[in-house]
Amino acid sequence: MSTSSSPDALPAATPAQWWRNAAIYQVYPRSFADGNGDGTGDLAGVRARLPYLRDLGVDAVWFTPWYYSPLVDGGYDVADYRSIDPAFGTLAEAEDLIAEASRLGVRTIVDIVPNHVSDQHEWFRKALAAGPGSPERERFWFRPGKGEDGSQMPTAWVSSFQGSTWTRTTDDDGTPGEWYLHLFTPQQPDLNWNHPDVRREHEDILRFWFDRGVSGIRIDSAALLVKDPALPEVDDSPVRPGEHRPHPFTDRDELHDVYRSWRAVADSYPEPRLLVGEIWLPDARRFADYLRPDEMHTAFNFELMACPWDATALRASIDSTLAAHALVGAPATWVLSNHDVTRPVTRYGRADTAFAFDTKRFGTPTDLELGTRRARAAALLTAALPGSLYVYQGDELGLPEVEDLPDDARQDPMFFRSGGVDPGRDGCRVPLPWHADPARAFGFQDVPATAPPWLPQPVWWGRYAADAQEDDPGSMLSLYREALAVRRHEPGLRGESFAWVSLGAESGPAPAGLVEPSEPVTSSDLLAFARDDVLCVVNLGTRAVPLPPGELLVASADVSAGRLPPDVAAWLRR
Ligand code: GLC
Repeated sequence: MSTSSSPDALPAATPAQWWRNAAIYQVYPRSFADGNGDGTGDLAGVRARLPYLRDLGVDAVWFTPWYYSPLVDGGYDVADYRSIDPAFGTLAEAEDLIAEASRLGVRTIVDIVPNHVSDQHEWFRKALAAGPGSPERERFWFRPGKGEDGSQMPTAWVSSFQGSTWTRTTDDDGTPGEWYLHLFTPQQPDLNWNHPDVRREHEDILRFWFDRGVSGIRIDSAALLVKDPALPEVDDSPVRPGEHRPHPFTDRDELHDVYRSWRAVADSYPEPRLLVGEIWLPDARRFADYLRPDEMHTAFNFELMACPWDATALRASIDSTLAAHALVGAPATWVLSNHDVTRPVTRYGRADTAFAFDTKRFGTPTDLELGTRRARAAALLTAALPGSLYVYQGDELGLPEVEDLPDDARQDPMFFRSGGVDPGRDGCRVPLPWHADPARAFGFQDVPATAPPWLPQPVWWGRYAADAQEDDPGSMLSLYREALAVRRHEPGLRGESFAWVSLGAESGPAPAGLVEPSEPVTSSDLLAFARDDVLCVVNLGTRAVPLPPGELLVASADVSAGRLPPDVAAWLRR
């Protein structure tokens, strides 16, 4: 592994609005690298591998939660935002890691989970102890149950982790008490965002981390925070086209005030900090509202990730994404996966190449060779689009989803709450293979282990190891390194220009203001677009097509015969 430093990666060379076209790498600390051999990845492990991230060519690293947590939902159950979970390290180590990354030209983004806290958080423990009617309970959603004996839940809202969203408490005398709301697990009570303490506390948490040099925050479940205090049931009847029906706990208008105040905090720093929202919303306009100039800078675009591997669907998704973002002048983001979804090489190797949480099932036939080929092309497609790019750890190694984890090893509440029907998200969280040699958990563990990795690694994991790919020009790792380097250096790919180029049959309508006049058409299975003088072309058909003229910059497979085979992408300078 090369550790030579690249001067152009230093922050001084990064434009002020670095986030508009950044490549951001997601670290799931538990599974990245285990510096002390206790089976859980940690900050020491990440720090030792910062040169790998620099050499990969990323501008920033987003860490999923590293705070003190019972880890019921992998750290998205935060017990204390101002300390690091002992399994991961210490606050001093986090500070050193942020500083060291910055010296290497890699910015840090931390994850803020404002919708809920852990049931072990001081506020919730105090709320339980203080009892009904207490001010401590007002920071959460405690309510009496319905029915004569209060035994029915206050609402029938369904959790995105399946099952109910309310848990009943027990009073001091042992009798059943009030219920509290949790949109996720019972160990993740929802905060009441109408309460001033909740707002003040989060602004303080933001400052706590911004003061420690983090460049931005990723905002978990960002569209869920505010609830309708009347707690109505969800109205599932069809809406009329264009109608917006307020939802009791998703995308409520009052949320925008929260993010405006966060933006003011972020903007109060000499180098303004970045706000990135996790927003799953079907309505592109409502999504874009969060990206108005005084709210978040960017938000994850999950539409393309959920899209099937199909030229028409991908083109439509790119068009609608760019059009929605153009309304507010915000850059789009491109996301192929994260710690919640099936790995791309697995997804794209299936008959149904789309992603949806409710269709994840065990035993889905998968052609990994095909999936890998497509994932390589998808990597070039997304890296060529205007905006910022997210790479989930291990995708640069082409890791497949690990689908045969033993049930007793699984940890994800999605698996348990579905009664084992949903495989859950552990399969994309298996600790990374750094070495082809299986010793020390394929190099996941830096020192002799005192415990095995928290999730078992498959015996074939070494095939995907970073060191096995290092010197192979045809590996996924080499493709990512090459693509990120070209993306960083080509002015066309750094800017925001984008124009569909019709090398194929009808390219379909494109959003107003975003498209230059089209060139002649030859096939509808091709996606081709220009970023100034750089052309990106992806063949989603079943037959090879002639490679367009130009200087080849990168290709996801061999195109030396002058043909672009099916499921292959190439970048050319025209
Ligand atoms: C987000 C996270 C996910 C977590 C959930 C609850 O969707 O990405 O991992 O389980 O929020 O915090």
